[in-house]
Amino acid sequence: MAIEIRVNGKTHRLDVDPDTPLLWVLRDTLGLTGTKFGCGIAQCGACTVHVEGEARRACVTPVEAVAGKAVTTIEGLAEGDTLHPVQQAWLEEDVVQCGYCQTGQIMSAAALLDANPKPSDLQIKTAMAGNICRCGAYDRIAKAIRRAAGEPS
Ligand code: FES
Ligand code: FES
Repeated sequence: MAIEIRVNGKTHRLDVDPDTPLLWVLRDTLGLTGTKFGCGIAQCGACTVHVEGEARRACVTPVEAVAGKAVTTIEGLAEGDTLHPVQQAWLEEDVVQCGYCQTGQIMSAAALLDANPKPSDLQIKTAMAGNICRCGAYDRIAKAIRRAAGEPS
């Protein structure tokens, strides 16, 4: 069955099973491998993308659920050569360790700041609680979010 999805501003007409997880469509069909597979059961956040601007776990989202909706992946977060403020803050705070969780962390942080541009520390903690980092970069992640929000990090 043909499904039309819009990813990073580009429309794709795909011949895939409607139950296929969005994550597989992004990675295997569209070649957008920036979004990572971690647990596959909505427990780690590695696969986080935006659907209509909200953070969504791509591993448990059937592709038919996003038909006709705007999906953004890490590849579409920057505006041309200009990094998203969250990406810029990530670099300035030197957040990344192994990097595996970072796509999901950045996408969750960007969705948080979009909905709440000046989150409190508690709101940051709550919004990011579903994104696991095996390297334990949580302090730097929170600092980078505060920096992106224009707060002293
Ligand atoms: S891979 Fe989707 S939440 Fe872990
Ligand atoms: S940076 Fe390694 S898992 Fe988060």
